[in-house]
Amino acid sequence: MKLFIFVLSLISLGFADDEINSRYFPENFKFGVANAAPQIEGGWLEDGKTETVWDHFAHTRPEMIVDRSTPDIACDSYHKYKEDVAMVKAMGLDYYRLSIAWARILPTGYPDKINQAGVQYYKNLFAELKAVNVEPMVTLYHWDLPQSLEDELGGWLNETVADLFAEYARLCFELFKDDVKMWITINEPKQVCQAGYGTGFFAPGVVSNGVGEYICTKNVILAHAKAYHIYDNEFRAASQGRVAMVVDTTWFEPASDSAEDQEASERALQFNLGLYANPIFIGNWPQVVIDRVAQRSALEGFATSRLPAFTEEEIAYVKGTYDYLALNHYATNMINATSDAPIADPAYWKDISVVTWKKPEWPSGSADWFGVVPWGLRHLLVWLKKTYGDVEIVITENGLSDTTGIMEDDHRISYYQGYLSACLDAIYEDGVNLSTYTAWSIIDDWEWTGGYTSFLGMYYVNFTDPERTRIPRKSASWFTNMVATRCLVDTCTK
Ligand code: BGC
Repeated sequence: MKLFIFVLSLISLGFADDEINSRYFPENFKFGVANAAPQIEGGWLEDGKTETVWDHFAHTRPEMIVDRSTPDIACDSYHKYKEDVAMVKAMGLDYYRLSIAWARILPTGYPDKINQAGVQYYKNLFAELKAVNVEPMVTLYHWDLPQSLEDELGGWLNETVADLFAEYARLCFELFKDDVKMWITINEPKQVCQAGYGTGFFAPGVVSNGVGEYICTKNVILAHAKAYHIYDNEFRAASQGRVAMVVDTTWFEPASDSAEDQEASERALQFNLGLYANPIFIGNWPQVVIDRVAQRSALEGFATSRLPAFTEEEIAYVKGTYDYLALNHYATNMINATSDAPIADPAYWKDISVVTWKKPEWPSGSADWFGVVPWGLRHLLVWLKKTYGDVEIVITENGLSDTTGIMEDDHRISYYQGYLSACLDAIYEDGVNLSTYTAWSIIDDWEWTGGYTSFLGMYYVNFTDPERTRIPRKSASWFTNMVATRCLVDTCTK
């Protein structure tokens, strides 16, 4: 009966196509929750930490942040990390995904002076996690470049920053080799490069449409590969850990069976995800991206493609730098092909040449790109398997944002139930090698340009209270129960 009522409520939410899968999660399947240093830590100038590009962006360009807020204090996790770990423990999770702030470990950005207070903060955090038997999943770079490297070197537009990232990664691998086995080099290079150095909507706010973002992309991928090789050559044998880079995409569902719309979906996926994953899993940029950017660059009058080429040595160096595929995914869009934009100023979106839209019956999150469509995740997982082979996939982020922050967050429960059901479908029906699901997020946080107006936490944080009190929403107890039962409905089968 409950299942019937649940299915009915899903239909009213627009999940009619999805029946909730009633199989148990496989025994070795792992669950986690995620967050990132710049969004929760605060302590922005404390104990030797220096300014990051996001600190700088929020302080100098407040008009770019919806509520003109800063991450100066955020959830104050720099002081309240024990409470965070207690919440993770209470939820019975395998993993806690967190990130290390480069500027807390190396205040100048360069490997010249290690900030022991910063090192100690993470040591304490890892010890706390170890005490409750939760494994850290650690991101080295979640968008928080030390501002010094932006000011002095031009940030990710300069390949030297890739070398500096590799030095910072080596240091973290060494410092935390006994604490961390699950490493992520870089979170979502697409957002770092397209929003940071293309549209300029994200820090550091550089506007270089269709040019800077591709230069950044090559440098970020090289940075990842350098860090991967350092781990492989110097740490893997003794530490036995694993390393990957997080890629992200919306799923693009072709709006019709026409060859044009099918190609538009494939093209959008290659520009959104393949641009970052192809060099690592297959070698070189996706051919469709090479061809289209070269063609438009020539028409625009560029002497060479705006997409910098990899040399043969670089292709070989980057290829294979993964131990698993780390995926962030939130939403789905429908997609149609469209005629190419007239040749004028370059832009990434003109290089892709598609139109995306949402079905009106789909529920949405707070952002306009956010179509809540659980089967989109299943389609994406199948596409990843088809495109990159039977690689192990770790979902490193998935979750629902809203602007109300409501405590009775049934819509978030439905979201998790639907998306986790899609994971079970992919595992049992499609044979996808999916090992882990990490929800974003355990607590409300500073949501970049969304400031403190976009809520994704299973725990509410009172940002006006100096104590930054954390209170569980309804979804926290639902998720806790799901992790304990490993089942999405009342009664599951093996
Ligand atoms: C980012 C997170 C962010 C989340 C929700 C992802 O793109 O990795 O840092 O908070 O989306 O907006």
